[in-house]
Amino acid sequence: MKLAIVYFSATGNTEKIAKTIKEQFIELKNTIDEINITNYSERNALKNFSLYEALIFGFPIHYWRAPRLIREWFTNLDGKGIKCAVFFTYGGVNAGIAHYNIKTIMDKQNFNLIASAEFLGKHTYNLAGWKLMETRPNKEDLKIAKDFASKSYQRFIGKDTSRVEFEKPKKSNEEIDTIELAARRAIPTPFREINECSMCGTCEEVCPTNAMNKENGKPNRRICIRCLRCVVNCPDQVLIMKNMSAQFQLQQQFTLIEEELRIKKSKILL
Ligand SMILES: Cc1cc2nc3c(=O)[nH]c(=O)nc-3n(C[C@H](O)[C@H](O)[C@H](O)COP(=O)(O)O)c2cc1C
Repeated sequence: MKLAIVYFSATGNTEKIAKTIKEQFIELKNTIDEINITNYSERNALKNFSLYEALIFGFPIHYWRAPRLIREWFTNLDGKGIKCAVFFTYGGVNAGIAHYNIKTIMDKQNFNLIASAEFLGKHTYNLAGWKLMETRPNKEDLKIAKDFASKSYQRFIGKDTSRVEFEKPKKSNEEIDTIELAARRAIPTPFREINECSMCGTCEEVCPTNAMNKENGKPNRRICIRCLRCVVNCPDQVLIMKNMSAQFQLQQQFTLIEEELRIKKSKILL
């Protein structure tokens, strides 16, 4: 079978799971193209999937759903009924309504979603003083990723004819839009603190939204999605984030129960 795995990954968690899924499909004797759509230009160039018999999509969760830029990207695509599996990585706070939401979007664009999964990954804001899922994805997560590939394959080849269904969540998209807007405003943007920058321009090249400006070492606040791809890729390590431990402590008080976090597992939803 000729497949493609298409993913967005700012800090590497989603990419790690994608590569594991790819290996398993190769093991199952398929041909699989790896398409990384994190960069603006690659994402916007990919419009046609006619080369493929099935697709696997992978995204991080940003504010309880796939990143806004991915949700918007889908609205210009026509899946022409192609079978798809989707997976998310998230930092252990909440997977929110990501599965239901992506299914609604994909149904509308004529993609046939047959399987879904979620994987724990170190939280992006560990780069700003958080301490969440620091060692994830781990071996157990990667094992679940392989299993997800095998189970999706059974559905791709029609041995298992079920599709994935989700209950309508209690929170609406509009309610989550409000949460997203408030959270985004509260999260600072990365910046260059010291002057030992070689002006290599990597930060501009890797920015998924073309928000970064290497001249002043700051992104455009309005366009920056706070994904920290520039911070993890800066070869001079001169880009930093303001410490966000205060937000972390606040979250800990209300939603991050130590006991519950310790036993969180990656999950396949079939
Ligand atoms: C803007 C933003 C919003 C996020 N929102 C959530 C969230 O709602 N729930 C959660 O558990 N993790 C959240 N995270 C953490 C990421 O989902 C997690 O670290 C993910 O694995 C990152 O994937 P990547 O390394 O492929 O970019 C968020 C991260 C960012 C940057």
